[in-house]
Amino acid sequence: KIPVIISTDPGIDDAAALGMAFYRPELDVRLITTLHGNVDINKTTANTLKLITFYRQDTPVARGMETPLFQPVVSTDVHGESGMDGYDFPESTHRIVEEHAVEVMRSLLESSDEKITFVSIGPLTNIAMLFLMYPHIKGKIDRIVLMGGSLSGGNVTSAAEFNIWADPHAAKIVFDSGVDMVMIGLDVTLKALIGQEELDPARKRSQAAEMFNATFRHYRDGDMENGVVMHDMCAVTYLTNPEIFHVEPKRITVITEGPAKGMTMEINGEPNIQVATEIDQAAFKAWFAETLERME
Ligand code: BDR
Ligand code: CA
Repeated sequence: KIPVIISTDPGIDDAAALGMAFYRPELDVRLITTLHGNVDINKTTANTLKLITFYRQDTPVARGMETPLFQPVVSTDVHGESGMDGYDFPESTHRIVEEHAVEVMRSLLESSDEKITFVSIGPLTNIAMLFLMYPHIKGKIDRIVLMGGSLSGGNVTSAAEFNIWADPHAAKIVFDSGVDMVMIGLDVTLKALIGQEELDPARKRSQAAEMFNATFRHYRDGDMENGVVMHDMCAVTYLTNPEIFHVEPKRITVITEGPAKGMTMEINGEPNIQVATEIDQAAFKAWFAETLERME
């Protein structure tokens, strides 16, 4: 099994991605860290704890960075007031780990015999802070698979994708870190669509499918006919089934200031990241259906 640490800001598509990660037999989710992002950190953390209970898991959850490194918090309203609008989640019985996420990541990595993979589906502040405080820890990371960025235009501005825009300085630290990375950006995630057709067959049997059905409608005014974009889920899909994507090595720099703030820009030079440029849409839907089969 691939040991993973997930950094997340739920978020309707985060909620779905976490479920997929829990139920994929190839993955062993060791830790979840929360942070600012779609909504404030109190909400993303409460949402994560609810998801642990909802999916009947026992994974430790640690609270991370409340704010970006050098700018005020930015949030979005595309996931509704709570960050997971549309479904009435039961209160969580899961307790948060008391230490800060950066410390919990450090001790987990230091005590692990094997390298651990990072899955980042929110802003990159937790990972950047870990690298700033404990640079030696980079050697314990197998690679970072991140949902974020774009080579074909943004979703917040014409240049920037949300996860990078929400903390561009953190993203730059991580992109320049020298750690192996895979960028799963809007170039592919906008084509990862799940809707009524994929959910309906499972709704009677699976509470997860019912929850997806209820929340996806609230996501960016979800279009259930054509499908709703599963940005964050693609990072999980890539980990278990990389053949669903085409990736190319590229040199990417992050623009941190000015009107293009948050842009992931391709420049000449030694590649620092594998960038997903294509997705097999039918294979993605099949992967989703197969994973949903496993979920109660
Ligand atoms: C990213 O932004 C968030 O709203 C989603 O959860 C995803 O991580 C897509 O740009
Ligand atoms: Ca997210």
